Amino acid sequence: MNITNEKVTDYIVSFYQPWNDTMGKLREQSEADQIPLILKETEMLFRTLLPLRPAHRVLEIGTAYGYSSIFFAHLLPESHITTVELSDTNYQVAVDNIWEQGLTDRIQVIHGDGSVVLDELIQNAEAGNTEPFDLIFIDAAKSHYMEFFKKAEKLCSKNALIVCDNILMKAFLVDLSLDRKRRHRTSVKRMNEFLEYVHSRNDLEVSLLSCGDGLLLIKENKK
Ligand SMILES: C[S@@+](CC[C@H](N)C(=O)[O-])C[C@H]1O[C@@H](n2cnc3c(N)ncnc32)[C@H](O)[C@@H]1O
Repeated sequence: MNITNEKVTDYIVSFYQPWNDTMGKLREQSEADQIPLILKETEMLFRTLLPLRPAHRVLEIGTAYGYSSIFFAHLLPESHITTVELSDTNYQVAVDNIWEQGLTDRIQVIHGDGSVVLDELIQNAEAGNTEPFDLIFIDAAKSHYMEFFKKAEKLCSKNALIVCDNILMKAFLVDLSLDRKRRHRTSVKRMNEFLEYVHSRNDLEVSLLSCGDGLLLIKENKK
């Protein structure tokens, strides 16, 4: 189920324009292959929101076909993007798409499990070999958001923004009976725990938005 009224969403996305023809085709390719990617309304929000904060280093967990990382590269022209993908097929398609758009020097695709790669990035950061990230986009296995977040925050720069997608999980989070086949019980429980956790932290500013499939914006109040 859509988390918002479908007619309202249809109206909002009627104003959507792809960034360029190539991005429009990449969205079509991902959708035709049933590869999830940021929804149009999420992309529209990012277009206005993200350029407000200069992000030089972007980290993404969950590359899929590379749509969002390529979009970040266009949207934030000063940025370098590191993106992590677990699936062999999606990793290869993403690498090809990034190469075709001439962005291999701006986007590094790491093939691996987000949790393991985050540990490696933390080790590198602690050894002084990696700069912190200004924007971290978590868009992969929903049952691991708590783990991804706790690791990701160790990699944040002073004014970093962490954005998590698909937070409301097609509204299962507010009405478990929608999950008729009971496939998402564990993910929903874990996502609830994650949301309780971030909202209980006084050192975080947290906004839960009913945009796309639910978007969570988290900013640390670092001194
Ligand atoms: C929602 S899609 C990402 C969409 C992409 N961010 C976009 O908007 O174009 C989620 C991706 O995360 C990948 N994934 C799932 N579990 C993962 C993990 N533990 N580590 C890294 N990637 C993972 C999936 O294979 C899938 O390609």
